[in-house]
Amino acid sequence: MLVVKDVGKQYGDFTALNEINLEFERGIYGLLAPNGAGKTSLIKMLVTLVYPTRGEILYNGTNIVELDEDYRDILGYLPQHFGFYKHYTPMKYLMYLAALKGIEKKLAAAKIEKLLESVALTDVANKKMRKFSGGMIQRVGIAQALLNDPKILILDEPTAGLDPKERARFRRILTSLSQDRLIIISTHIVSDIESIANQVIMIKNQKVLFNESAQSICETLRGEVYETMISNAELETFRKMYAILGEKQEEGNVRVRFVHKGESEKGWINATPNLEDVFLYEYRDRLQAEG
Ligand SMILES: Nc1ncnc2c1ncn2[C@@H]1O[C@H](COP(=O)(O)OP(=O)(O)O)[C@@H](O)[C@H]1O
Ligand SMILES: [Mg+2]
Repeated sequence: MLVVKDVGKQYGDFTALNEINLEFERGIYGLLAPNGAGKTSLIKMLVTLVYPTRGEILYNGTNIVELDEDYRDILGYLPQHFGFYKHYTPMKYLMYLAALKGIEKKLAAAKIEKLLESVALTDVANKKMRKFSGGMIQRVGIAQALLNDPKILILDEPTAGLDPKERARFRRILTSLSQDRLIIISTHIVSDIESIANQVIMIKNQKVLFNESAQSICETLRGEVYETMISNAELETFRKMYAILGEKQEEGNVRVRFVHKGESEKGWINATPNLEDVFLYEYRDRLQAEG
């Protein structure tokens, strides 16, 4: 229903995205890549806040820019930097937004009550947001994105600044919202989407690297992820020879997890690749540069 067709995005001479082709139906799609990969650029094009330099985005065959308001009517969006009014309560804030969207007051009140319940904010519905945790604010953000009961829900880095418990709650909420909807979540944190996304889209070098289930992405490293114990003295050399995925000190030695494309060696144990492995492997240059 939502099709990204040969889309490219330039900022002046700088190419942020190139030859992006994607098709979205219903379910949860995770857009997974490190910072600077172009996630927000893609998302802003999907919500018509910026326009592609090349190509087009179609909803049921029509360019979304052309659809304009008809498209925005079915769209819910939580921006990466969600602005809210800390002196407002969630109830007042959402009533205000509902009024902007032209939703009738009585209808809005009933709807907002339900929404606040679905994001577990009923208890604080009439408390000022000033003292809210990051997770509570993000849940207000989801509630505002759901005001128009959108068919398409797009969330840009919705778990930034949340603790593990809040992340888990967030995943549960998204899963419960995903029936009958298309949800697109961008993140640079593998665990945010690994267990809930039906499809994972990874961007590398301005292009789509993977667009499939987490399981089949992991297949790309099958037989090539190993673990072994080495001494601390060997570590430097080992790091130079192999793509390290993890290092853990254990009783004076180091357990290393790494990728090797050639023959196995004595003492190496084959490990089952997970999405984190693929992420660390594919973006190793970039992640190293970041430190
Ligand atoms: N308005 C802009 N003008 C110039 N460069 C931009 C602009 N927005 C993003 N970029 C650049 O495009 C690249 C992708 O950015 P972005 O889409 O924000 O990535 P992500 O959301 O994955 O971190 C980055 O190198 C960023 O600096
Ligand atoms: Mg971003």
